[in-house]
Order: sequence, then structure tokens, then C-alpha cells
Amino acid sequence: LIGLAVTAALSISSATAFANCDPGEIVIKFSHVTNSDKHPKGIAASLLESRVNSEMNGKACMQVFPNSTLYDDDKVLEAMLNGDVQMAAPSLSKFEKFTKKFRIFDLPFLFEDVDAVDRFQNSPAGEKLKSSMKRRGLLGLTYWHNGMKQLSANKPLIKPEDARGLKFRVMASDVLVAQFNQLGANPQKMSFKEVYGGLQTKVVDGQENSWSNIYGKKFFEVQDGVTASNHGILDYLVVTSDEWWEGLPADIRAQLSQILKEVTEARNSESAKVNAEAMQRIKDAGGVVRTLTPEQRQAWVDAMKPVWKKFEADIGADLIEAAMASNK
Ligand code: LMR
Repeated sequence: LIGLAVTAALSISSATAFANCDPGEIVIKFSHVTNSDKHPKGIAASLLESRVNSEMNGKACMQVFPNSTLYDDDKVLEAMLNGDVQMAAPSLSKFEKFTKKFRIFDLPFLFEDVDAVDRFQNSPAGEKLKSSMKRRGLLGLTYWHNGMKQLSANKPLIKPEDARGLKFRVMASDVLVAQFNQLGANPQKMSFKEVYGGLQTKVVDGQENSWSNIYGKKFFEVQDGVTASNHGILDYLVVTSDEWWEGLPADIRAQLSQILKEVTEARNSESAKVNAEAMQRIKDAGGVVRTLTPEQRQAWVDAMKPVWKKFEADIGADLIEAAMASNK
């Protein structure tokens, strides 16, 4: 009986979790991998969903699937090209198979903070990047912020040498592989949904992520502590299929664009706050957060920055310069 009650409750909650689309409405499936609350992307996707479903009722219907319930990030872009999902917001580190230009965002210690990232994304060079995958069938609609990445492991990370010999989970990005190789560590590409288990069972020793991801997926519970390194950026591209987008009726496309623009403005300006709250929640839950002195942080800069040279040809020296100019 209890089993039956649970099944019934689950089916009710999953039925109400998604908007019921009416016949004739354009269905927009939005797949992502993080939790939906207390998270910059999760909150933005939910807001987008509720605005589309109220303001475009009768014309379009959005269904957001968080927590990798529909696709992993390594599957979602192929699924999009097949027409099985219409929108997603993978991190900028996950477009490796489609463009090498996005490697710019993974260079360690390039951007001083999210405001610098924002300035770069909104510059002509950043705008241009959004349409750089068109010939591969993907169109970037807008950038969404998460925040700066922090380092965690099953031992304290204070000096770069502390990372030596440890296995780190990385997103699917050769720059991030090179970054950990540079430290004498062993990077391993792994999907987001496998990270908690990987850390818990010691398949990997550590990882890098934003505060909201470290809190949202409870990585801090299976790590010795988190070092506030702010060594790189974790941001997103809201992406769609170029063919699907161009095939939309013009008025639908215009209304969707406008809602997306407003949601982006409203939520990007809150991302730093969401991450600061996540860091506090980690501490409140008994997680250890370590800060670095300027000298200690400089040692990580010196250890990781040689990676830039390896990718300069892929990215272009001019683009790196444009990104550096956004720090002020
Ligand atoms: C990760 O894989 O660590 C992140 O890209 C997850 C996310 O979407 O924030």
C-alpha cells in the first residue's frame, strides 16, 4: 500500500512538474543537468518556463527537464540536432566537439570575475562567438552566468603541489585536461551526474566547480574541503538548433527572444548572489571552505597559466587579448 501511495504521489508530481501542452502549441523541451532551485541556471530555466507558458499560452509550451533527467550534456547537443530537444544550456566547456573557439572560456585565471566575463560576452567578439557553430547546426541565443570555479579534493589544497598525483574530474574540455596535467594531477572527463558518486567511491579525488554546483549536488559532503580559488569561469550558452529556430513563425521567434532577453538580464545580475548564498550554505552545513592569501593564490596562477600557450593557436591571440581587455 505504501509502495502504491508513493508511486501515485510520484506520478502526480511528475505530471504536474511539466506544463501540459495543448494541441497546436509548439513544444519546446529544455534539458539541463543541474538542480532547479538555489542555482543560477536552474532558477533561470524555471523562470523562462513559467513566462513562456503564461505569456505564450496557446502558441508555445515549454517543458524544462533539470537534473540530467532527459539528457546528459554529452548527449544533448546531438539530440538537439536530431530534433529531440529544442533548448539546452550546457556550460561553455562542453562545446569542444563543435568549436575550438570556446576554449577561451576555460583558460585558467583569464577573467578576474563574472563582471569581466559579462563584458567580454557582450563585446562584439563575444557576440560573434554565439553564431560560431551555425555551420554545425547550433545557434547560441544568449549567455547565462553561473560563477567562478573553486577547487575541492579529499585533502586540503593550499599549494599547487597539493594537487600533484590526485585524480580530478573535469568537464569534456581539453583545456581543463591540460590545466590539471600542468599541476601533475590526473584529469578524468566525466559527466556531471557521475561526479558525486565518483568522489564518494574515490574513482576521483577532486573536482572543480562553482559554489552553486558544489552545494547543489552536495560535493562538499564527500570532499575534505573547498579552496576558494576563483581560478576559472563556469558559464553557459543557451543553445538551440539553427534549423528549428529559423523555422519558427517570426512572431513566435520574436516573443521568445524578448522573454529570453528579459530572463537573462534579470537572472544574470543575481548569479553572484546565488553563489555567495551557496558558499554560506556549505559552511552552515559543516563544509570546510579555505581561502588563499594573495601569495598562495599567485602560486596557482604561476602553475596553471602556462596552459594558455598550448591553446593560443586554436583560440587566436586576438581573441585572448579581447578577453583580457575585459578585466578592468
Ligand atoms: C559540470 O559539468 O560540472 C557543469 O557543467 C554542470 C553545470 O551545468 O553547471
